[in-house]
Amino acid sequence: MCGIFGIALSSDAALGAILRRALERLEYRGYDSAGIAVVSSGSLVVRKDVGKVADVARRHGFDSVRGRTGVAHTRWATHGKPSQANAHPHTDCAGRIAVVHNGIIENYEELKAELAAKGHVFTSETDTEVFAHLMEEYEREGLSPWDAFRKAVSRIRGAYALAVVDLGEPDKVFFARNLSPLIVGVGDGYNVVASDIPTILDHTKNALPLRDGEYGYISPAGVYIERDGVAVSISGRVQQVPWSAEQALRGGYPHFMLKEIHEQPEALSSTIAGLEPRRLAEAAEMLLNARRIYVLGAGTSYYAGLVFQLGLTSYKLLAYPIIASEYATYEGVFDSDDVAIAVSQSGETIDTIKAARAVKERGAKVIAITNVVASTLARESDYVLYTRAGPEIGVAATKTFTTQVALLTALHIAVGRALGIDVSAEESSLKRLPDVVRRAIELNEGSAKALAEDVASSKNAYYLSRGLGMPVALEGALKLKEIAYIHAEAYPAGESKHGPIALVEEKFPVVFVFSDPSAKEKLLNNVAEMRARDALLIGVVPKGDDLTKKLKYVFEVPNMDPMTNAASFVVPLQLLAYYTAVRLGRDPDKPRNLAKTVTVE
Ligand code: AGP
Repeated sequence: MCGIFGIALSSDAALGAILRRALERLEYRGYDSAGIAVVSSGSLVVRKDVGKVADVARRHGFDSVRGRTGVAHTRWATHGKPSQANAHPHTDCAGRIAVVHNGIIENYEELKAELAAKGHVFTSETDTEVFAHLMEEYEREGLSPWDAFRKAVSRIRGAYALAVVDLGEPDKVFFARNLSPLIVGVGDGYNVVASDIPTILDHTKNALPLRDGEYGYISPAGVYIERDGVAVSISGRVQQVPWSAEQALRGGYPHFMLKEIHEQPEALSSTIAGLEPRRLAEAAEMLLNARRIYVLGAGTSYYAGLVFQLGLTSYKLLAYPIIASEYATYEGVFDSDDVAIAVSQSGETIDTIKAARAVKERGAKVIAITNVVASTLARESDYVLYTRAGPEIGVAATKTFTTQVALLTALHIAVGRALGIDVSAEESSLKRLPDVVRRAIELNEGSAKALAEDVASSKNAYYLSRGLGMPVALEGALKLKEIAYIHAEAYPAGESKHGPIALVEEKFPVVFVFSDPSAKEKLLNNVAEMRARDALLIGVVPKGDDLTKKLKYVFEVPNMDPMTNAASFVVPLQLLAYYTAVRLGRDPDKPRNLAKTVTVE
């Protein structure tokens, strides 16, 4: 849950400023502390502290540091509280080796004890620091820095993406990857490594995603990779990234989240334009031949998966939704005739990767739905369908949810077609979706801003719906909770009477999602129940519907079929959460305690 970066240039440059810029890109991955290490005129300069990147960089004069080789880190604490000592990079006793790390070295306590017994002095509570001392120990035994690095990698267990500089080989940045994402950016006369693709885009469009178990180094002249002591050929593995560097910038919006909400029509158009009927038909075939279908995902991606799972019921098909982190409970059930759909925008969420692996270990097939080309989930799955949302930097998922719903709707259509069902209505909804989402933004941004005033003064909110509206309610509640820090829960509206309604009193916000027309009548009864308790009644309703008279505040969205509606009816709820967070002075791009991609279990 941290961001790492390393760079090897052929001549001295303002490396501190380059590292700072990389950290600003990576900050969404963690933002409790930041640091850099630069090989500068034969010495190692390390600057790090608690705080956001811009503050740490200013306080410690990152921009004034010059050099050729360096590493950088932005942290989301796992072992050890946020403190200057625990901030990365971590160094050895002599201050010649600097390590940045994303992940958890599971056997660090035993390694630490071993190294302490040999006289190594530790200055942090982190698991990462052992790696610097391990290398130092092997260099004391006479190994070269590269050999010491390889040997140290062979001693650690767990999840890691590592980047290391060592004064003994000052032109190289050593790297290793297992379970945590790491990508090499291949430049001309320089090379970089980073936790994600947007960060390498400042330097090059040529990306080489590393695989688990690979380690090596970059130098200005090239990239060298090994696995189990054997050199790995990189020929054919370097890919051209289709994103521009500008796509990864805020583009004039105050926050990435707002920019990404507004990018949804375009992201949807790209995703829909990129649909490959043959591949969708093949994936549909896999599903129809499966004995059981599972839908795996975490957070927002799980809710997108629920849209698909509920959508399948219209074909009388039952799929089993499983929250990815709970996979172990179902492990014994997975069978070789089964197929799982694993949904993950990043393709690096450890829970989803582990769940997909468990499914595969039992011989079942995995279809990945992801936004990141060559991500771990994409590589490890039997079949991949990509959303084309572009990079999503805001921690709160927005355009990746709507594009996931669009892609899963396309898959739903492919399944229907294979079953000989008339899917023309759903097809035309999907085509209209980018325009409908554009309209949903135009129609509702002003009212979301206005309503945010009322919602911001509430401590709780309910989001109620039924049927295919439920994933929208769940996603709306998650958005408000994660960025505005208002306690928000989604319930099937009928279920609200089995307990949750006890909390409702005057002005308690209750958001009703009317995206599934089959639920309208019953949902209206639930509106009446909440009105009787003086709740603040809010609705996301089909445009032009008489429902507008039954609620205090309404967000209107052009109506389509209930699956596609899941992608458009969520938009006002994204805007409501965003403006409520801003009204409360929260930073929607960097909600507390969260990181964009959860890479530890
Ligand atoms: C939602 O706003 C969160 N960022 C979170 O729930 C997220 O959807 C979840 O962690 C899954 O991430 P993934 O799609 O990258 O697997």
